[in-house]
Amino acid sequence: MEPTPDVVRHFHPVLPARQLRQRPVRVELAGHAYALFRDATGRAAALSDACPHRFAPLSKGTVTKEGQLQCPYHGWRFDSRGHGTNPSQPELRHCEARSFQVVERHGYLWLAHANTPVSAMPELSGEDYFFGGTFSTLFQAPLHVALDNFSEDEHTPYVHTRLGWSGAQTGAVEFEAHNHADHTEVHYRAPQRPAPIMKLLLVRDGDYFHNDWVTRFDPVRSIYTIHWKSAEGMPRPFITQAHIFFVPETARTTRLHVFSFLRTSTPLLKPLLPVAAKAALGLTWWEVRDDARFIPTVADTPYSHKGMRLDKYDKPLVHQRKLMERIYYAHEPEAVPRVIHEATGT
Ligand code: FES
Ligand SMILES: [Fe+2]
Repeated sequence: MEPTPDVVRHFHPVLPARQLRQRPVRVELAGHAYALFRDATGRAAALSDACPHRFAPLSKGTVTKEGQLQCPYHGWRFDSRGHGTNPSQPELRHCEARSFQVVERHGYLWLAHANTPVSAMPELSGEDYFFGGTFSTLFQAPLHVALDNFSEDEHTPYVHTRLGWSGAQTGAVEFEAHNHADHTEVHYRAPQRPAPIMKLLLVRDGDYFHNDWVTRFDPVRSIYTIHWKSAEGMPRPFITQAHIFFVPETARTTRLHVFSFLRTSTPLLKPLLPVAAKAALGLTWWEVRDDARFIPTVADTPYSHKGMRLDKYDKPLVHQRKLMERIYYAHEPEAVPRVIHEATGT
């Protein structure tokens, strides 16, 4: 199933801003390539990575001192709005390259159609959260496989080694999930297995892990809020929040961009936030790395859930597939008539 070209009607994070300097950079989003560059004022811009002349990749070109992107093949030059000129035939008109909008925020470059309102930029954590940092990880799997993996915690004891419960504690997991019109919501409560990094977040042995998350589709992103409580229900002081954006690059790869935050309910601990937020970022990095290492194992999982013996933890999966299709795909996969034919024997 091919993604529609309209993926960029939502803002997607595509590149850490510091990685775009004097040279253009190519990024891919749902199989389409974009050439990012900075104009003379340092502002990031994006053009379709195919020169309107004979489709050479503009990302292989250079940026002139006037801040135009120059094609590596015949030297046509384009400004940040895609307006092009041909040095060998200056009177030639209609030399436009397709331009896109780039917003620089939270240390990333976010890409969308030129007419997508900036107000459509996804909101990250509120002011009470301390920003701990970001990272990006390439998943060798299609978007549907990456998203399904991040939509249940049943794999926690088997794929992960730190966060959450161990294989011996699977009987103590409490779970709840709700499917809504435009998002899903999931809650887990389970024993936290001992792990040294947890101490940095003032988690104690015997504590309970609480993971509450929401998955939204503007673009595809999940917001995980994780905190811990003692067995008696006493909250530990730090609450982590990770915003994970699932960006389809090709039909076989998905890049996850992670924004990590931390807050505390204890005013006395606020001075510790910068250090503790780094610990939270590190913990999230380890967990995402565990998933990334495992994901090639299931990369060939079919798109349709048909025939799978889904369990209660998979409740968000089927609904999320529909919400994802609403923003990424032109048509529903696995047309309904096949099921009807089977049922009626025709
Ligand atoms: S292909 Fe770009 S100038 Fe010719
Ligand atoms: Fe995982």
